[in-house]
Amino acid sequence: MASTQAAQGARGAQVLVASNRGPVSYAVREDGSLHAKRGGGGLVSGLSAIGPDAGALWVCSALGDGDREAVRRGVGEAGVRMLAIPADVHSDAYNGIANSVLWFVHHMLYQTPLEPVFDAEFRRQWVSYETYNRAFAEALAQEAAPGAAVLVQDYHLCLVPGMLRELRPDLRIGHFSHTPWAPVEYFGLLPDDVAAEVLRGMLGADRLGFLTQRWADAFTTCAAEFAGGLGDTRIGVHGLGADADFLRRRAHEADVDERVAALREEIGAAPDGSARKAIVRVDRTELSKNIVRGLLAYRQLLDDHPEWRERVAHVAFAYPSRQDLAVYREYMAEVRRLSEEINSEYGTPGWTPVVLNLKDDFARSLAAYRLADVALVNPIRDGMNLVAKEVPVVSDEGCALVLSREAGAYWELREDAITVNPYDVMETARALHEALSMAPEERAERTKRLAAAATALPPAQWFLEQLSALRA
Ligand code: F6P
Repeated sequence: MASTQAAQGARGAQVLVASNRGPVSYAVREDGSLHAKRGGGGLVSGLSAIGPDAGALWVCSALGDGDREAVRRGVGEAGVRMLAIPADVHSDAYNGIANSVLWFVHHMLYQTPLEPVFDAEFRRQWVSYETYNRAFAEALAQEAAPGAAVLVQDYHLCLVPGMLRELRPDLRIGHFSHTPWAPVEYFGLLPDDVAAEVLRGMLGADRLGFLTQRWADAFTTCAAEFAGGLGDTRIGVHGLGADADFLRRRAHEADVDERVAALREEIGAAPDGSARKAIVRVDRTELSKNIVRGLLAYRQLLDDHPEWRERVAHVAFAYPSRQDLAVYREYMAEVRRLSEEINSEYGTPGWTPVVLNLKDDFARSLAAYRLADVALVNPIRDGMNLVAKEVPVVSDEGCALVLSREAGAYWELREDAITVNPYDVMETARALHEALSMAPEERAERTKRLAAAATALPPAQWFLEQLSALRA
């Protein structure tokens, strides 16, 4: 480990990435020492593709007490600068604005008779959001070499491009949205000045990236309506794909093999002794993922097609997310309650209809991907949804994909998936029946084509494509 700023030296970085969550996080051990945990994902493999000598720097926020302690002690990784934004400012910006307002707007999550309410508390939190974005803009301005490329990520940091442009007009600034973009009528829920500020911030970039043409078009419409158009800012679409090499290797390591065996045991056998079929879903317990309607559709399937009882299990992995927000905690409780209800209504001594797991375990997720007969991916709205792309890559014997038309992945996978309106529980139940009934040969053929489409743009290429477009 080395002190980050020292590692960068005075020459400045040539490529900078900025995101709320960084590639590493810290926890304080009982003996007071710091334990570093490295994360994965598209940006991590993207950055590694440009190599360690490319002069890259990742600017991120300290998220918890461990991170703040690491910054205080001057502990860090080469190539990473963590910003010790005060905890209260970060909480207002991340929980209050990013996750409770901007995320809700882009995913259309409000129950509009009662919310949103843009009151004095919102205005107070908005000031924190500006402060948090300014801290990023200032750090990037400090660290960037003349003419460097800066790739800002997501809705947490949508004011950064405009702020950074003012501080450093020489930089090439890109912004990438990993979420959908709201339709213009829904974006218009925001107070006019806030809507204009968000768009002005984004339009400070030379280039804006989106996961699908649909989200890019929504942004363009909002810019025309609330900001007088795109100006000089260019728009690009880069549909992040699954990392096939990594997934195929990781999915066959010993810990995953062990979990495949354990999960098969837990799912059990049908009365005729054949392996029970598995409808698998893996998500963060996120309001937009539509886990509750997925359970309702499964219950409908058991009602409409009693022949599936005892012959199928719904394996639902719903990992904790954003637990500082009450509405996420309540959603998680509802997922648990409904699963228990289905199990007590339909379960028999030898059959647990819903196998629910709420504890994050990547190896077990891969095990579930491998043995899934059906993958259920039914978000009410999703930027891409990488689970839909990962399952076909890892599947042992082919897996039928039930896919929401509101996921970004729909546009690339729709031909070989069984597609659904995520609000229509009856249609989703029918789709599950169709998926379970699909002949093994057809399933295997479709899975091959799904895997090819899902890996068309692996993370490294996704990143390099954006970088060269920004520099062009
Ligand atoms: O989809 C947007 C996003 O920020 C992803 O990049 C990330 O995987 C997810 O949300 C998780 O968010 P958080 O950092 O709040 O856990």
